[in-house]
Amino acid sequence: MGRVLDAVIVAAGMGTRMLPVSGYVAKEMLPLVDVPVMHHLILEARAAGCTRIHIITSPAKDFSLLLEDMNSKFPSFSNDQSLLNPLGEAEYFIHYQHEQLGLAHAISMASESISGPFLVLLGDNILTSNHASSSSFEPSSVSTDLVLLHQETGCACGSVYDVGPDSVHQYGIVSLDGDTVQSIVEKPNKEDALSTLAFCGRYIFTDDFSALLDRFSVDEHGELQSIAILKHWMDEGNLRAHVLDSTVSWYDSGMPLVWLTSQIDHALRRPEYGDELTAWLNQRLNQS
Ligand code: UTP
Repeated sequence: MGRVLDAVIVAAGMGTRMLPVSGYVAKEMLPLVDVPVMHHLILEARAAGCTRIHIITSPAKDFSLLLEDMNSKFPSFSNDQSLLNPLGEAEYFIHYQHEQLGLAHAISMASESISGPFLVLLGDNILTSNHASSSSFEPSSVSTDLVLLHQETGCACGSVYDVGPDSVHQYGIVSLDGDTVQSIVEKPNKEDALSTLAFCGRYIFTDDFSALLDRFSVDEHGELQSIAILKHWMDEGNLRAHVLDSTVSWYDSGMPLVWLTSQIDHALRRPEYGDELTAWLNQRLNQS
């Protein structure tokens, strides 16, 4: 079984729900308090053992500063050198998606430079249990757990998160037998949902992905091409899920209110801000 050495971070979307800011700054570069989303993702992928990082972008976005080592520019910052040079020793690749035709199409931009199974990370989704200050930043272990599940099973895998019954209509909902995926339903009604577990933006795709792109074409499936490919793996009994526990927070920089609550939730858990922010919020709420 191939090792998971490649990570693909998809970040080519238009980000229309985050306009106007996304017209100037990629939503994948927005800070969760003081650490950009992209830094969380790159360091999570590297912690999972990936040494080749692929960023899928569009000509309208600029991730070039990520390629610079900023440590010499800001010598006084932090104990953790990786936050000023997240790519570090990793090999990196920038791929352009010129038409935004969905997740599988975005990943396909990197296909020719990947061999073997690979990690996929949605560029605007952070999944983490870590809320340390930036000086002692720790990457999320969600991708590490997914790589371990792939190593045990040899199968394609996805992380899933319990979103609760009131939110199932917004997500791809899966039902499981053990860790084997039995069904995937896109955005079901609350009444019809077989579970409350949603795919949450971390996957391992197996090396048959490129061949499946032709079989489940973007012309036929549009933005649901990735779901068609996941369902194919499921039908073959080759799709596993890792259920995230309740210590993991799911933060999304793709929508203003969700991103606002993400920032507050994370800041409340940060040791250096939690108490003061709590006091300020209490005072502010008592005023209204
Ligand atoms: P989203 O569908 O949430 O992002 O994709 P979007 O299309 O940018 O959002 P809106 O609807 O315009 O507001 C999740 C992730 O997948 C990337 C996005 O950049 C985002 O990080 N993506 C999405 C691509 O790279 N290519 C695509 O064709 C679609």
